[in-house]
Amino acid sequence: MDILPDPTTLVNEDSADGSIYSNPDLFDMEMDRIFMHNWIWVAHRSDLPESGNYITTFIGQHPVIVSRDRKGEVHVMLNRCRHRGATVCEHKKGKAASFVCPYHGWAYGLDGALRGVPFQEGYTGQLDKSNYPLISLRVEEYNGLIFASFDHDIMSLDAWLGRTKPWIDLFMKQGAGWPIKTMGEHKFTFPGNWKIQLENTTDAYHFPIVHKSFLDSVDSETQNTFDFVEGNGYVEDLGHGHSVMVMIPDLVDLDENLEAPIPERFQELADELAKDYPDEQVRRIVRAVGGSGFNLNLFPNLACSMAFFRVLRPLAVMETEIRHIAIGMDGGPELGNEMRLRLHEHFQGPMGFGTPDDSEAWDRVQRGSLAGRDISILLNRGLGHEAQREDGNLFSDVSAETGMRAAYRQWLVDMTGKTVRAENGE
Ligand code: FES
Ligand code: FE
Repeated sequence: MDILPDPTTLVNEDSADGSIYSNPDLFDMEMDRIFMHNWIWVAHRSDLPESGNYITTFIGQHPVIVSRDRKGEVHVMLNRCRHRGATVCEHKKGKAASFVCPYHGWAYGLDGALRGVPFQEGYTGQLDKSNYPLISLRVEEYNGLIFASFDHDIMSLDAWLGRTKPWIDLFMKQGAGWPIKTMGEHKFTFPGNWKIQLENTTDAYHFPIVHKSFLDSVDSETQNTFDFVEGNGYVEDLGHGHSVMVMIPDLVDLDENLEAPIPERFQELADELAKDYPDEQVRRIVRAVGGSGFNLNLFPNLACSMAFFRVLRPLAVMETEIRHIAIGMDGGPELGNEMRLRLHEHFQGPMGFGTPDDSEAWDRVQRGSLAGRDISILLNRGLGHEAQREDGNLFSDVSAETGMRAAYRQWLVDMTGKTVRAENGE
């Protein structure tokens, strides 16, 4: 008889057992208990601008279709035909009136209803099409972020996002008054467990070490901006495994401090924009191009990270896919969006100065955990030095591991089957 690992013996406030990165049984439990029972981000509203638009993506290891039907309603459906289970659609995105399974031609509407079965007379009296729609997931949206869940009893998205909502609203100010839109993505895999990436989003501690080559590649003014580890930033536990790491407090609210001097690297852009926009809007656009001064980590796998979305997808216990999705101003100046893309490439791109260094460090954590099985993973930086806000949020200085502890606390709740589905519970 298989004995499942006991999550409570593997993680505590202080540290985690190294096997959490490599135990295949634990990974299977995570895919079920975490990815099947949480809200998982599937798309941004701009990915589905019109009726008939769809994208395909994954929730945990399950392929899903996200579509906008004729009435404008968004549906998320398991991308598995109800006949023999084939994936119905493998295009990344597109526009369609229906989805036709390539094997025997069963045809589904944009809402997943089974509409057509070839040579249906062979099923006479046996097949009621209304019993075989694509499996539909629960779908809810907050400020352009579309989430889905296999768990129809989960708490509302609103309750689950809870104290992250003001931060999401702040992040969306990168539209500079326009809505934001996705502008393509870099995708890569690294040979390591998904939680290594989950930990990284609120890990300020690594920045001056791992990202030395990035800091060497920019001007001194930009270096100073990114010299935040000993600054007055903070990291805050937002509940339900979510957290925020504020690196540059002056850039939390992009509508504030608009009168601040324009950084030299944006001066040329500002001069060009000044031909078409009033001064205040120029300053707003320039700030949007530079991105927000914080990383928001939404458990278990979405980061709204400074100027882009980072989505992780566990492929196997020691293999993870990362998508870095560029965002821009939908309707804003192309010049600004082009500069956002160049900045995105500079750090996140496959030849960039940031992400390749990150992924090498993650690779080393994975290999190290396999080689040194008796070495635990420390999560205790800043533990016991946290303060509490009026709303109950724990926070600490920016390089504390408060965000990781928040994530692992929720990991334990989910893994021990105590995920609360009531509206207001923790
Ligand atoms: Fe889809 Fe047969 S598997 S129609
Ligand atoms: Fe990094």
